[in-house]
Amino acid sequence: MKIFVTGADGFIGSSLVKRILETTDWTVVGMDLGCFRLEPLLSHPRFAFRQGDMTVDQTWVDQQIQACDVVLPLAACALPSQYINDPLAVFELDFEENLRIVRECFKRGKRIIFPSTSEVYGMCQDENFNEQTSPLVLGPISKQRWIYSCGKQMLDRVIWAYGLKGLQFTLFRPFNWFGPNLDNIQNSGKGQARVITQFLGNLLRDEPIHLVDGGSQHRCFTYLDDGIEALIRIIENSNGVADSQIFNIGNPRNDFSIGELAQHLVTTLSEFPGWEHIQLTHKIEIESSNKYYGEGYQDVQFRRPDITLARTLLRWEPSVSMDEGLSKTVQFYLQQIESSKPVHPPSNVPVTVH
Ligand code: UGA
Repeated sequence: MKIFVTGADGFIGSSLVKRILETTDWTVVGMDLGCFRLEPLLSHPRFAFRQGDMTVDQTWVDQQIQACDVVLPLAACALPSQYINDPLAVFELDFEENLRIVRECFKRGKRIIFPSTSEVYGMCQDENFNEQTSPLVLGPISKQRWIYSCGKQMLDRVIWAYGLKGLQFTLFRPFNWFGPNLDNIQNSGKGQARVITQFLGNLLRDEPIHLVDGGSQHRCFTYLDDGIEALIRIIENSNGVADSQIFNIGNPRNDFSIGELAQHLVTTLSEFPGWEHIQLTHKIEIESSNKYYGEGYQDVQFRRPDITLARTLLRWEPSVSMDEGLSKTVQFYLQQIESSKPVHPPSNVPVTVH
């Protein structure tokens, strides 16, 4: 099987490529603006990588779609601060560029595995978000945070509609995946990383952690390896189980408030040599979302996946606890800092992850 991945150097992309090369006989072609995370894999005989901009090298992208069996378009802006500060960039990359790829897959009869998002459920009031029955609830237009969710939802609907005309597809919805390489730990600005790397970076730099609007909002955090295992099963697609399906890929057992997450991280970091003091020295401050993100922000108070479908069809079960996942993540970043390697791609490289 030959797989084409855009955003291959991102958090999900790079880990997926690594896992494929290590545990399958599949061939991968990847594209991204940089190859920071993929560097150790560049000489692998079953991996071809092109450093480039998919919005510019469109002919090359189309050639790869033509030559592969499965397309995973993972390139996207995936930070809430980006949705607020540059909503048009989110629309142009996440929606417009990926729409082009979806159409190309349909035209050439290629299978597409598309990253939807837990954000499509928005402020849904269901206790557990279900792929088939939950309403997708977004806020007003002036809250530009929702442009990401709205664009992803529209693509979900477009892919579904092409599916009715014969496109072979699977949509997957990551629920706050985390792990090594999530974001650049050295980005110090507010909202420059997703919450786990943001908080860890704050602690490592001796800065206060900011709990937005008090930190009572919940997320279900999913360790990267569990998510990648689900993706491998989707790509394998035994007996076509993943065809025309939408899968929530999240861990309902790792359901924590953001305040609880902060405490968990402090405890986890304090268990590493040299960081025992953090239990006593860390600072936690409450900040309003208006001040932290700006007026275009609106939050999701809880986000819990119903994973019955992934359990049943993919025989998938997330197994990594919050404690274990956080410990591995903290260890990764501490080692990265110790090895004094630059710990991030150049700052002009947009986030290419989910
Ligand atoms: C994320 C992003 O939109 C995407 O990466 C992704 O599609 C999706 O969720 C997902 O992975 O499921 P969100 O969960 O809001 O959205 O992202 P974070 O930036 O990680 O924030 C989580 C929560 O922590 C929010 O309530 C936010 O207000 C809070 N937060 C964040 C703080 O309290 N303090 C901070 O310094 C940063």
